[in-house]
Amino acid sequence: MHLPDYKEARSRDKRTYNRINFTLDKNIEKKYVGKKYHVKTYGCQMNEHDSENICAMLEALGFTKTDDYLDADLVILNTCSIRENAHNKAFGMLGRLKHLKNEKKDLLIGLCGCMAQERSVVDEILKDYKFVNFVFGTHNLYELPKIIDKAVEENKQQIEVYSREGDLVEGLPVIRSNSYKAYVNIIYGCDKFCTYCIVPYTRGRERSRKKEDILEEVNELVKDGYKEVTLLGQNVNAYGKDLYEDYNMGDLLEDIAKLDIPRVRFMTSHPWDFTDKMIEVIGKYPNIMPSVHLPVQSGSSKILKLMGRRYTRESYLELFHKIKDTVPGVTISTDIIVGFPGETEEDFLETMSLVEECRFDNAFTFIFSEREGTPACKLEDNTSLKEKEERLQRLNEVVNSIFLEKNKALVGKTLKVLVEGTSEKKDMYFGYSETNKLINFTSDKDILCGDIVDVEITDAKTWSLDGKRI
Ligand code: 5AD
Ligand code: SF4
Repeated sequence: MHLPDYKEARSRDKRTYNRINFTLDKNIEKKYVGKKYHVKTYGCQMNEHDSENICAMLEALGFTKTDDYLDADLVILNTCSIRENAHNKAFGMLGRLKHLKNEKKDLLIGLCGCMAQERSVVDEILKDYKFVNFVFGTHNLYELPKIIDKAVEENKQQIEVYSREGDLVEGLPVIRSNSYKAYVNIIYGCDKFCTYCIVPYTRGRERSRKKEDILEEVNELVKDGYKEVTLLGQNVNAYGKDLYEDYNMGDLLEDIAKLDIPRVRFMTSHPWDFTDKMIEVIGKYPNIMPSVHLPVQSGSSKILKLMGRRYTRESYLELFHKIKDTVPGVTISTDIIVGFPGETEEDFLETMSLVEECRFDNAFTFIFSEREGTPACKLEDNTSLKEKEERLQRLNEVVNSIFLEKNKALVGKTLKVLVEGTSEKKDMYFGYSETNKLINFTSDKDILCGDIVDVEITDAKTWSLDGKRI
């Protein structure tokens, strides 16, 4: 048994990583033919992409996928710990699985992802969730086949969570959930330690993949007909710092833009590491999409300092305007936390005024959620939940009205849309514009998913646009 340990998770000593290639033990390959699996994913794109690797490993073991967990022989919950509600959802699902297991004694249940890296969660599993067959962490995802097989053969709960990152694994199998858009990890972990954030503890220190491995993966995707790649990392801007003297995110973006891939996106960017070179490259290459996710978190420099964000309101605005001025037609989206400990009405009004100035194209807004073990938990917090909820509502009203106004300004314009599918009613296609706007549209002629087509915008809603293909 290996249990998570926050002290180790916090350590950032200089280490070199073995870069190993994934291999599957031939003795267990296809051993589980006839069995069905269901993977439920919570949280961010990183988790979604991890689940694509999990599915591929399970299929290599012989499992086949089912969309209905009631029908599965194996259920894996790939969890998120960013806020308390993500936590609660996963525990709610574990409750339902407990009932299911009462009827289906052979059901295998596994838990992985960020919650598995939390000691308190694992202690709870050990104490009250004995029916969970195995738990594994974010650093040893690649050991999943071995862990499942051990859980079955030994018929005993397996807890295999490492807080110290081990090897950086290449060659993990993957079953991508979309045939036109692909996620590509470029960097794992985060060293920023924003005071509210659990990620540096659950995902470990920043570890970049080698540029050759990334470029090769994108090249393969191009050959397979993919139209869009999203470069993933908790903080993609830190790419290369741990690995190269003179090769960073700007250089990587440029090298990827030179490949024959129609659309390149990246997320998430910390404003602190956003270099001029990156801005220049985004502006220069038409296949790097003019859409940047740039979390601001707060408009008050006092709160930003308490959050450990390493920038001020002024320096954020300077960067924001530099990106707007250099990249034609760029859209910028953001994340905002309200009710951080110590946030006064004046601080909140600074966030509101920043939002009015930036007029973001999209914003994910949250109430601060205490995460055990993070420094923000120790800060004095005199604001009631009711007040925080009211702030969130006021903020949402303003950001939503801005989204709608900005979308309305697009009516009559023609945007390029990567077609992803048809809507539920099948009478409309949908896809995303270069600027990452969701567009539902009609077309006189049949079109193929994966095509990039011109769509004239006919109507605007808060979170989407309607249009017709021209
Ligand atoms: N409470 C509320 N929101 C959080 N986020 C991260 N940690 C917390 C927390 N403890 C938000 C931030 C981040 C996004 C992914 O989630 O806005 O950018
Ligand atoms: Fe968390 Fe993002 Fe800050 Fe890293 S940069 S600690 S992932 S909020």
